[in-house]
Amino acid sequence: MRPERSNKDPVDEPWISNGGSMLTMVMTGGTSGFGAISAERLTLSGNARLILGARRPTSVGESIPLDLTELDAVRAFATSVRDRLGDTPVDALVRNAGVILPDVTGRTVDGFETTFAVNHLAHYLLLRLLLPALADRAIVVLNTSGTHDPANHAGLAPPRHADAELLAHPDRDPDRDTRPRKAGEHAYTASKLCTALTARSLSGDPDVQTRRFTVVAYDPGQVFGTGLAKDLSFPLRIAWSLLGTPVLGWPLRRINRNLNSRTAAGNTLADLALGLATPPNGRTYAALRRTQLTWPDPSELARRDELAQALWNDSARLVGLSD
Ligand SMILES: NC(=O)c1ccc[n+]([C@@H]2O[C@H](COP(=O)([O-])OP(=O)(O)OC[C@H]3O[C@@H](n4cnc5c(N)ncnc54)[C@H](OP(=O)(O)O)[C@@H]3O)[C@@H](O)[C@H]2O)c1
Repeated sequence: MRPERSNKDPVDEPWISNGGSMLTMVMTGGTSGFGAISAERLTLSGNARLILGARRPTSVGESIPLDLTELDAVRAFATSVRDRLGDTPVDALVRNAGVILPDVTGRTVDGFETTFAVNHLAHYLLLRLLLPALADRAIVVLNTSGTHDPANHAGLAPPRHADAELLAHPDRDPDRDTRPRKAGEHAYTASKLCTALTARSLSGDPDVQTRRFTVVAYDPGQVFGTGLAKDLSFPLRIAWSLLGTPVLGWPLRRINRNLNSRTAAGNTLADLALGLATPPNGRTYAALRRTQLTWPDPSELARRDELAQALWNDSARLVGLSD
């Protein structure tokens, strides 16, 4: 169990070290991009035992194989985590892995559209399977994106809905965009809307409130130079990579407050996981703007309780769980 925490704890003196006990953390997406920076910082903090779910061996923390394109792999991972930890509870769960794809033609072994399956469905299952293993006052950080909100004018096709059935099977969506790239963008932004809605459902759950979890949907802003564009077209990959270089990235970040460096995004994610950055009362959506954590409202769709509830229930059905 985490020690009692207060917003008054000084930020340069982690409250976790005052508790004197090692934290146990489970993370996805710690092998590249800003997640790798977070993972390294978490392990260097000296206070955390970090278990990474990863497709390949890692040099930080302990890794357990996890491919989020297979729900069976998620089940096996959750079992391995619980076996390895025994009675030791998980203090922080960080769901950071994610993909953006050039279209929606890909299907996972379970038959679901890949972006939705990796970014939302597999992570939903992981959350459900690890919920009983979380400590009282655990921290759950779910990686979302400002692109889920049309008001941010992020340049990607915004989500039209959070209907799990249609997102899992976009060919059944009568209003789908038939342009491959736009459909791929929509799948990505919709999956991030699903993440924000999952955070809403989770934080409102009576059991979660009793156990005093901290739930945060984290929008890191736009972070160039990560591996996220690796499946996109060659020109987009080059642009993504060039804009992530210091010579271009630094001046751009001065102009556009949505842009953040990998270091800033990764360190802030680690701060959230460590409890060094905490939400004001009643907030679950965090957006990194010009390296500062802000707590705005998520999109209008992401604030709708009936959507959050329907998504939770439909996702449970798709992964074979009861509500
Ligand atoms: N970069 C941005 O501008 C931005 C903005 C908003 C939100 N985000 C979100 O932030 C998160 C990290 O993004 P990033 O930009 O740092 O991208 P990244 O460098 O591509 O990192 C993605 C991470 O997810 C892992 N991953 C992908 N598919 C997986 C799978 N099937 N099974 C297990 N792990 C898988 C990757 O593992 P491998 O190393 O094996 O590929 C990697 O560790 C993502 O959720 C992304 O959507 C990014």
